[in-house]
Amino acid sequence: MTPNPCLRAARRRLMRLAASAAAWWFAAAAAAANQALAVAAARDAATAAVTDSMAQRMQACVVCHGKEGRATNDGYFPRIAGKPAGYLYNQLVNFQKGRRTNRAMSHLLQNLSDDYLREIARYFASLDLPYPPAQPDAMPAADARRAEQLVREGIPERKLPACVHCHGQAMAGRLPAMPGLLTLPRDHLLRQFGAWREGSRRADAPDCMAEIARRLTPDEIALVSTWLSSRTLPTGIHPEPAATEPLPMDCGSARP
Ligand code: HEC
Ligand code: HEC
Repeated sequence: MTPNPCLRAARRRLMRLAASAAAWWFAAAAAAANQALAVAAARDAATAAVTDSMAQRMQACVVCHGKEGRATNDGYFPRIAGKPAGYLYNQLVNFQKGRRTNRAMSHLLQNLSDDYLREIARYFASLDLPYPPAQPDAMPAADARRAEQLVREGIPERKLPACVHCHGQAMAGRLPAMPGLLTLPRDHLLRQFGAWREGSRRADAPDCMAEIARRLTPDEIALVSTWLSSRTLPTGIHPEPAATEPLPMDCGSARP
């Protein structure tokens, strides 16, 4: 790759920002992660010899998102490896434009060019890495059945489509822009549903997920989040191809 001064400057800036963002974030939420490790990793990222490899540049991200972006469901940070590039790109833009709120993320992405956001999204989407093992959950069997039924069949009389209809039968996501739902931490899932309901996570209209989040009761959200976060995926399962039939609801962010 030809060294490009703009790209090099952006990369240096990204690493500097990551180091400072990670430092304050972890100071504020020490309980959320292993602070000493993360700070050391941020420092390493900031001082690493700059090479032209994307893996090297993205060290700034693995401080929080786990090695190669494959955070486990035992924690707080969402996995980003292997999610559809269209989904990842949309989220980077959402953080940049304030349609999703996380100070570290918005700070990190500030002023990065659209081309670079696309390159970052393609890089993490291309990582084909194993998923962590399933986490045992303490759900009573009846609750687990209710959660699974909601995910696989929805609740037609309340106009709640099945989650798998859009997110894929294996819940590994669907191209171009629907994410996988498994191995995400329960806290992350709960936070996303809260953000959709209160309007602090937004996507292109019509915002189908915000609508779905409002149609679910708090109790259903808790059940589904616990159930999804305790499941895993076998190696080699990838997002499904784009739907050829219309979706049960229109999603502005998932149009081809
Ligand atoms: C200081 C910690 C931290 C760093 C460093 C960080 N992230 Fe994040 N990231 C988060 C958190 C926390 C969230 C979830 C925010 C929320 O609740 O919406 C997130 C969410 C995301 C999402 C959305 C994931 C999803 O499934 O919706 C993407 C994509 C992402 N980050 C990419 C990156 C990239 C690329 C980098 C490096 C340039 C990076 N992050 C660096 C903490 C971090
Ligand atoms: C009509 C299609 C559709 C249905 C049905 C649907 N989703 Fe989604 N979902 C989406 C789209 C599109 C996105 C991406 C939204 C964005 O770009 O912010 C999404 C994103 C998500 C995310 C964000 C993942 C992350 O990493 O942050 C979660 C969690 C989620 N959906 C859970 C569910 C659950 C649980 C159900 C069933 C109760 C469901 N979805 C049903 C289309 C759908």
